[in-house]
Amino acid sequence: MKGGELNTETKKVPTHIGIIMDGNGRWAKGRGQMRTQGHLEGLTTAKKTVKTASDMGISYLTLYVFSTENWKRTADEVSFIMALVKQYLKGELNFFRENRIRIRHAGDASGLPHEIAREIQEVIEDTKAFEGLQVILALNYGGRDEIIRGVRRLLAADAQSDLTEETFRQYLDNPDIPDPDLIIRTAGEMRTSNFLLWEGAYAEYVVSEKLWPDWTEDDFKAAIARFSGRERRYGGTKA
Ligand code: IPE
Ligand code: IPE
Ligand code: MG
Repeated sequence: MKGGELNTETKKVPTHIGIIMDGNGRWAKGRGQMRTQGHLEGLTTAKKTVKTASDMGISYLTLYVFSTENWKRTADEVSFIMALVKQYLKGELNFFRENRIRIRHAGDASGLPHEIAREIQEVIEDTKAFEGLQVILALNYGGRDEIIRGVRRLLAADAQSDLTEETFRQYLDNPDIPDPDLIIRTAGEMRTSNFLLWEGAYAEYVVSEKLWPDWTEDDFKAAIARFSGRERRYGGTKA
């Protein structure tokens, strides 16, 4: 089977893919450029990846754009990333329409700059009827933060007496979205960095040494092929 001929009918193709898009800074440093240049290149890769996932018929793609810990970076880098997000949302609206792509958010919107939060809310509204690929932007997202915000909502609803994994799920950011099947991390680090802690409990991880700006459609398809070869046991024994 060639890379482009994955059969989306089989269960071996992931329904939900998460990507920890890492390595923008190292990519830029390796070229003697500013870190911000790496983020600019990274945006190009993200756009291509969204198109590939959409064309392949993937249902959900969660992109780790900015973590709750990324505020520790310099003010210049943070504002550059936020400006890129805004530019992306504004510039891609026609592309989202043409490809029936629905945009969603994971993370704490209340901690985002107001204009970014407003922009996201507008794009979510504008694309909410689209039935194609759902792209979840994890922005000001932290897995621990999501769980804590969920606990707060549960307490506010006075629902703690009925607490199970299934009922708690309803208090997470996007309870209707199935757990990620595959989480890809570029740039080689072997850690979650606080990404989808609850939802990713049984995700298959594929870590690539490639830096995010160098990531290609073939790399994406190769990661899916690796996923397809895995046996998921969920704590059970071999089938
Ligand atoms: C990922 O690339 C993008 C964000 C975290 C926003 P990095 O900026 O973390 O790149 P490295 O890890 O420094 O190479
Ligand atoms: C994870 O990458 C966050 C995003 C890709 C948005 P980091 O670069 O922030 O992770 P660490 O610091 O290497 O764990
Ligand atoms: Mg990094």
